[in-house]
Amino acid sequence: MRQFPYEFEGRKPILFYPEPLDRIDGDFLEIGPGRGDFLMALAEQYPDQKVVAVELAKKRYYKLIPRIEKRGIENITLLCAAAQIAIPRHFVPRSFERIYVLFPDPWPKDRHAPHRLLNAEFLTMLAGLLTDSGSFFFATDFKAYADWVVANLTDVPTLENIGRPFADQSDIQDYFPSFFEQKWRDEGRSIYYVRCRRVRPAERS
Ligand SMILES: C[S@@+](CC[C@H](N)C(=O)[O-])C[C@H]1O[C@@H](n2cnc3c(N)ncnc32)[C@H](O)[C@@H]1O
Repeated sequence: MRQFPYEFEGRKPILFYPEPLDRIDGDFLEIGPGRGDFLMALAEQYPDQKVVAVELAKKRYYKLIPRIEKRGIENITLLCAAAQIAIPRHFVPRSFERIYVLFPDPWPKDRHAPHRLLNAEFLTMLAGLLTDSGSFFFATDFKAYADWVVANLTDVPTLENIGRPFADQSDIQDYFPSFFEQKWRDEGRSIYYVRCRRVRPAERS
């Protein structure tokens, strides 16, 4: 079973758009933007904020660039890399106000579960990117993934889940339905949302 950090991902060069950067900070971060519907809506809504995204799939990365350019968006920095590799290498701690992970690959089979992105270690790394007032948002249609993330959050003292345990769609700041959200909704699936705020370990209730 291959577990992150995949050795081969660590050896691949990280691609950057519009230009290579050594240290990356920003206001909003999306991991796994896919077709980029949410990413571009967010960037257009906040033209003065820096919006960063990390997309693993090269094909998606290369399709996203002309979409961003066609819409004339100039405040997106896009990386093609596994987030687990790119974040520790390039990202400035405590610099993001919001992080979104929308519909990560669910890896529904038990034997593939170790591939799931949002384990406690990765959530801890994301918390380290957030400012004191920062928030982390997550959505999935896969209930077992949602329950697993909620359980993992109990092992992350710097993130407080402020849902019950799940949030409503309206709790996800500036939400715009992503491609996968629309697809699953059209199929009548339920969607689970999680909203967390960054806290000092002692503050968590
Ligand atoms: C199911 S798609 C969801 C895409 C989009 N967020 C949406 O809701 O339409 C999951 C996306 O996460 C990307 N991805 C998977 N693992 C990743 C990783 N380790 N780092 C960055 N992106 C990743 C995939 O390539 C894919 O684009």
